[in-house]
Amino acid sequence: MSIDFSKLAVEGVRTLHPYQPGKPISELERELGITDIIKLASNENPLGLSPKAKAAIEAEIKDIALYPDANGFYLKDAICKRFGLKHEQLTLGNGSNDVMDIAVRTFVGTGDEVVCSQYCFIAFPISAQAQGAKIITVPAKADFGHDLTAMRAAITPKTKLVYVVNPNNPTGNWLRAGELKAFLDSVPQNVIVVYDEAYFEYADGTPEYPDAFGWLNQYPNLIVLRTFSKAYGLAALRVGFSVAQPECAGLMNRVRQPFNVNSLALAAAVATMNDADYIKRVVELNRQGMQQYQQAFEALKLHYIPSLGNFITVDLGRPAAPVYQAMLREGVIVRPIGNYGLLNHIRISIGLPEQNERCIRALKKVLAG
Ligand SMILES: Cc1ncc(COP(=O)(O)O)c(C=O)c1O
Repeated sequence: MSIDFSKLAVEGVRTLHPYQPGKPISELERELGITDIIKLASNENPLGLSPKAKAAIEAEIKDIALYPDANGFYLKDAICKRFGLKHEQLTLGNGSNDVMDIAVRTFVGTGDEVVCSQYCFIAFPISAQAQGAKIITVPAKADFGHDLTAMRAAITPKTKLVYVVNPNNPTGNWLRAGELKAFLDSVPQNVIVVYDEAYFEYADGTPEYPDAFGWLNQYPNLIVLRTFSKAYGLAALRVGFSVAQPECAGLMNRVRQPFNVNSLALAAAVATMNDADYIKRVVELNRQGMQQYQQAFEALKLHYIPSLGNFITVDLGRPAAPVYQAMLREGVIVRPIGNYGLLNHIRISIGLPEQNERCIRALKKVLAG
């Protein structure tokens, strides 16, 4: 007797499309039998981990048979000291995706509405749909950015949560402090706003980029997400966190799985927080790489979306899928984003200067050929 598992699955899961990650280097090696591949597809940190993080991981290995500190005390402490926060405001996660999912599971039930923007980071609608939410996707502005006015208008008495990403992935668009503040002023306080700052370190210092941590008291419905996967170079270890009102974080911490952040990740995150030089180099490298791509796209007369993240999305003016495939054969993995409805665009993560050069060369060759 065969089981119809799709009938057994909860409704949201039946029609769920799984997250499509960037292609791993090892997969392309297996598929094409080639080596010397570069991956600029998952907004990872091309510098690799900080030497301080490496030393911290090595020191931690001896205790790997023990469970990690479920409370993540030292990481919370480092975050609180850096940003002037209280432990009770934090929720740690296995990557910030985990924290986002915790927020959804804490506040959203079957049939509740959630509001997000067209082209917003896709992990959110996946999480909300699995939870049985009705997802209200608000058309983006012509420049691909969030239309906050329309998002506000989409909020109804059934809305439990709004998702705002700044800068947004995969488009790179960013919201200014003034427009975001006006939006937060207008959102009813019983609607949770999950504000995702995965690329904060790259955007920090840009005039008019918001200081969301400074707004937490003014907007008690705000949950700010940060990650150690991008500028901190710890994507494989999976560690992120959210900051919210203590009562809100307390509820989220009830939902959080115990030990969701492993001891290597906890130690490496603290060590990287203490490596200001590393973060500075990461951000500077990204700034230079961004210029490399902008100049190349301008020379190629390709329209790109100005980005404050560690990636840039470019309109190829033709279907991107075959270009992506041809670039794979050149040993360069980038990210097609047809799953976002952007069929002519590819997203390229900023790499080391020589990786960027190779990627630009491959793109030129493919477009010419
Ligand atoms: C906007 C945004 N949020 C969250 C994440 C998830 O990051 P992680 O789960 O690795 O912390 C990503 C990763 O690409 C992202 O682009």
